Amino acid sequence: MAGHNVIGIDIDPLSVLISKVKTTPVDILELNEVCNWVIRGIGQKKNGTFKPECETIEHWFTRDIINSLSLIRTLIDQIPDEFGRNKKIRDIQDLLIICFSAIIRRVSNADNESQKTYISHTKIKIPEETINLFLNQIDLFKERALMFSQKINRKLKSKIICSSSSEGLVEKLKGWKFDLAITSPPYIKAIDYIYNQMAELFWIGDLFELQTQIKQNKKKKQYIGTKHFHKKDFESYSPFDITIGIKALDKNLQDVYVKDKKNGHKHSFLTFKYFKEMERHFAEMASCLTSNTHYIFVVGNSSVSNVFFNTADFLTEIAERNGFEITNKWGYKIRNRYMRFDRKGRGGIIKIDWVLDFVKL
Ligand SMILES: C[S@@+](CC[C@H](N)C(=O)[O-])C[C@H]1O[C@@H](n2cnc3c(N)ncnc32)[C@H](O)[C@@H]1O
Repeated sequence: MAGHNVIGIDIDPLSVLISKVKTTPVDILELNEVCNWVIRGIGQKKNGTFKPECETIEHWFTRDIINSLSLIRTLIDQIPDEFGRNKKIRDIQDLLIICFSAIIRRVSNADNESQKTYISHTKIKIPEETINLFLNQIDLFKERALMFSQKINRKLKSKIICSSSSEGLVEKLKGWKFDLAITSPPYIKAIDYIYNQMAELFWIGDLFELQTQIKQNKKKKQYIGTKHFHKKDFESYSPFDITIGIKALDKNLQDVYVKDKKNGHKHSFLTFKYFKEMERHFAEMASCLTSNTHYIFVVGNSSVSNVFFNTADFLTEIAERNGFEITNKWGYKIRNRYMRFDRKGRGGIIKIDWVLDFVKL
């Protein structure tokens, strides 16, 4: 909207699809036509053929809701057969997938707010009515798509790619360079995005090869800040032998290891891994940015096993040894208006977000 060519990068396929839908103008007449066809299909109350690959699906959704969701997903799958296999239709189909995804947690038995997908037995939930909710969601998306499609300059290029930003990015971009980068990276002991999206992934996970728990658990390992690895991954790790080379950070890692008798070894390793991967990230970004351009970075400090990590300062040092120079830094209190959940002190309450303004040397 600000008039730039843009590229978005995230490792999370659902986030990527949401971002792609929100940044892709669609043909409004065609969108109306496809939506009307889907709405008519819903009205015919046929049975859907789509079945989630989940044996416990009836724990997460009532039988009626399963039938409604199956019908909606089946209709969305039939769009290319009905309207053709081309980019325009594909964009509309993606929009409807995100529209569908947006109602899933609300119609499930799982708590709407919590970070993890789970059914609360103390806070009993009455799932919303599926079909009406979906129809309202279509109206909302159509309204936004219309506004966006009218305002956006179609000559601008935008591309959202699903990729790690700490590995193989330079090759993926095939020499494309940026003159500005902005990121909100994951925190240490990051949110388990896949666990958060579990209800949605029952119904659309197959589009990303994430329809089963085995596939989901394998994917989780690729996220920066992940807590998902096996004991054997860190058996040979000791913060006294393997260091990052930043005194205060290495001391913190040793403190976690020594002071937390229960989880210290694991927590020290996952924090070590976080900074190592962020270092690879800065190295990749340095190769993608042209000289004298800015990299704006937002990050909060955290506590791990009650040891305070000045993440903003540590990342600054790491960035500076990978081709950046800090030129400005400021903080603001987090009000968390848009976060659906708070971290309840886990990973340390992050009260301030620090904005780091780096220049690529
Ligand atoms: C704090 S969120 C920020 C999301 C989004 N950029 C924003 O500002 O709203 C961190 C994001 O980093 C993504 N992420 C985690 N590991 C990554 C990696 N190795 N490469 C690229 N993105 C990653 C997560 O999927 C998550 O969407």
